[in-house]
Amino acid sequence: MEPYFKHHVFFCCNKRPAPDTSCENHAASELQTYAKERVRELGLSGKGQIRINKAGCLGRCDDGPVLVVYPEGVWYTYVDREDIDEIISEHLQHGRIVKRLKI
Ligand code: FES
Repeated sequence: MEPYFKHHVFFCCNKRPAPDTSCENHAASELQTYAKERVRELGLSGKGQIRINKAGCLGRCDDGPVLVVYPEGVWYTYVDREDIDEIISEHLQHGRIVKRLKI
């Protein structure tokens, strides 16, 4: 059976007060929103396509900020919009894993 979404992406947006580390201390929500809007602009959102979601702590805080792409279960870290653009164009559109951001 085909999965409902071709790719389901979860961004950890968990925030902890400093000095504890958490993904939200690295602009996770802002870049999750950017990714969601970009996917929509490209006409790639919805059933059979791509879904971008916020998540709580995904358990890899020391590697953060983190996101995970299912069904492959590939994890990435990222710094800025260029990194998100690369994950969208390479992995989500063309199925090529972005090795330099993979964790
Ligand atoms: S705070 Fe993001 S993985 Fe735990």
